Amino acid sequence: MTAKIIDGKQIAKDIRSELKDEVAALKEKGIVPGLGVILVGEDPASKSYVKAKERACEEIGIYSDDNRLPADITQKELISMVKKMNDDPKINGILVQLPLPEHLDEAEVIMTIDPTKDVDGFHPVNIGKMVIGEKCFLPCTPHGVQQLLGRSGAEVSGSHVVVVGRSNIVGKPVANMLFQKNKNANATVTVCHTGTKDLAYFTKQADIIIAAAGRPNTVTADMVKDGVVVIDVGVNRVEDASKKSGYRLVGDVDFDGLKEKASLITPVPGGVGPMTITMLLFNTVESAKQANSII
Ligand code: GUN
Repeated sequence: MTAKIIDGKQIAKDIRSELKDEVAALKEKGIVPGLGVILVGEDPASKSYVKAKERACEEIGIYSDDNRLPADITQKELISMVKKMNDDPKINGILVQLPLPEHLDEAEVIMTIDPTKDVDGFHPVNIGKMVIGEKCFLPCTPHGVQQLLGRSGAEVSGSHVVVVGRSNIVGKPVANMLFQKNKNANATVTVCHTGTKDLAYFTKQADIIIAAAGRPNTVTADMVKDGVVVIDVGVNRVEDASKKSGYRLVGDVDFDGLKEKASLITPVPGGVGPMTITMLLFNTVESAKQANSII
């Protein structure tokens, strides 16, 4: 079997175009959704993510309040900036780009964000609501994964999903979202991680594999059954002298091997990546609607 490649760029474009129309309709009511962005330090990957987020806001008409802070900012100063955004009615969503420099307490910063403005879906209040199946801001990458599955026609309900990875940002929330009794969910979910003794034993049973391990070639063709659906969340830099940058991006799975065996597969780049920002825009628009009692 040769897999159909899931075009994350196109699916993201479709959703962004829906959001752009929604933002235009909100503007007619005098409502402009706003995103407060905080980037601390000079990490090149974080800088490029944040730039892409700001560009995406501009593209669909969301106001973004961009803040670049020096790497040596104190915890107190950062907390006070988040609190200012909590109180600013122009800001519907707050995004503090992670990871933060070592000396800062990430958990305290996330806890300070008003849960009604937590468009990353990282605050324990939103995570708790997600787990018990209440309406909340869903974390952007897992929500993007779910959209990719739904919009590419994968049958999630009743399937066996194997998640590889247990991070707070992807593995834990995506596993939770996909077993809820919801649309594009209702799956039986197994979570594998670095403590799993025989990863292939589990991946061979999967109808859908979500690879979020943070390591290239974690899942290879000999580890899956024919017709599997593969969503690759990994973004890894590997050295490549033929590239001007000296590296290329690869995911967590052996794409070339798996595409001969899978029914659907996401590429890296161009799969999950564009969806994360898109779902951040989605949450920001949702937040603006909620703040104005439009639901
Ligand atoms: N760092 C890597 N991914 C994310 C994300 O989705 N949100 C934030 N705030 N930081 C990140």
